[in-house]
Amino acid sequence: MRGHRYHWARVAAVALLAGGCTSDGAPPAAPPSSGPPPDFRPGAEGIGDPYFPKYGNGGYDVGGYDLKLRYDPKSGQLRGSATVTATATQDLSRFNLDLAHLVAGKVTVDGRAARATADGNELVITPAAGITRGTAFTAVIEYSGRPEALRNEELGVGGWLRTDDGAFALGEPESASTWFPVNDHPADKATFALAMTVPAGVEAISNGVPGERTTDAGWTTWTWTEKAPMASYLATVAIGQYRVSTSTHAGKPMVIAIPESLPADGPAARSMARTGEVADFLATRFGPYPFDAYGGIVLDDDRVGYALETQSRPVYGNTFFRSGTQTTVVAHELAHQWFGDSVALERWKDIWLNEGFASYAEWLWQEHEGATTAEQNFARRYASFDWSEPPGDPGPEGIFSQSVYQRGAMTVHALRKTIGDEAFFRLLKSWPAEQRNGNVTTTEFIAAAEKESGKDLDSLFQAWLFGTTQPPRP
Ligand code: TRP
Ligand code: ZN
Repeated sequence: MRGHRYHWARVAAVALLAGGCTSDGAPPAAPPSSGPPPDFRPGAEGIGDPYFPKYGNGGYDVGGYDLKLRYDPKSGQLRGSATVTATATQDLSRFNLDLAHLVAGKVTVDGRAARATADGNELVITPAAGITRGTAFTAVIEYSGRPEALRNEELGVGGWLRTDDGAFALGEPESASTWFPVNDHPADKATFALAMTVPAGVEAISNGVPGERTTDAGWTTWTWTEKAPMASYLATVAIGQYRVSTSTHAGKPMVIAIPESLPADGPAARSMARTGEVADFLATRFGPYPFDAYGGIVLDDDRVGYALETQSRPVYGNTFFRSGTQTTVVAHELAHQWFGDSVALERWKDIWLNEGFASYAEWLWQEHEGATTAEQNFARRYASFDWSEPPGDPGPEGIFSQSVYQRGAMTVHALRKTIGDEAFFRLLKSWPAEQRNGNVTTTEFIAAAEKESGKDLDSLFQAWLFGTTQPPRP
């Protein structure tokens, strides 16, 4: 679902070019299919992100993934099938999906056997016949293997990690290709459905709305559905011994999973229990919560010293919850549900649109809690900061730098001071509403801020996002 917002406009334009109607109201002279003959070519092996040229693939646009998987914690084996529905965005002779360490078996496209070959972490699929541009198609990939994480020197591990009692999948900017064939880049969002079969007595928690749970011959199938388009790095699954609590919040299912290794009423459980309250507070600032479900998953694993905004159900490393009730990180991950998940990146370069706003949400939450004010949080950082790295173009190794998070949040505050609270808080709601389920760029955000405020904000954003010296105090 790429370029979601422009989809209908593009369809209309194509219909016009194809002679969909004429000025005298006569039927078109020729059917749209009688243009030039198709020119079938391979889809690109990257989606075209300058920071990560190999991420994702070109030539098609995924609408949805439907995964039916079985995982055996004893052997570490994953097997099953992925049904990928997509639309060709060019005349396609073949196309790639990203798939790491796993082996494809039978592959079909629109029900006909297709050739599938592995080329490193790419699965190259050649359908029996070319697929013309604009045509919807369905690929079914049977696959299996022992999943492993991707090791990225600068950005840390991403993907499938095995545990004593199961496994979990987690990671940004990439992780999905370690457990399903995928167009692994946020620019191609898609719906997501998972049926995960695990031994009875083991839990399997994922994104979205929980569905039916059935047990047969000692294996339990857990089902999950995320029907809002989702970036692939926001897909997660946690398999193991968890206390799963399911409730309803604001009319939607809330699923919270706490590892059995942690106390049922300890800091992690107490912090998670405030999920609904934090989400409701953020909704007063950012507008309606964008998804159909709430929740969170805590991981008790030394390898996870971070949290991730996995869609509708963030994952939190237990390192955040050493004592008391820790809601700052909850505010951060829930803010991402608006900034990063519903409104997603088109290119990784613009990561400050995710992390700057999620970090700013921490400041709003702390102020709401009667702790530090946003102004105090800004002032502390402004007084001493290394301004040499611009958050608007942090480089591929810098996408999770202090500059992106902290100077990103300072940029948001500088914007607020420049346009005033009224326009600022209007923008915090209009932007997620207008861009809901879409993909955005910094340029589009600046245009939206200028429209909401009626001000020219070029020099403000130039200094805050791209300068290498301290910007003037707003
Ligand atoms: N986006 C995460 C956050 O700010 C941080 C993060 C970056 C991350 N890379 C990761 C989390 C890899 C888990 C795995 O909340
Ligand atoms: Zn974040």
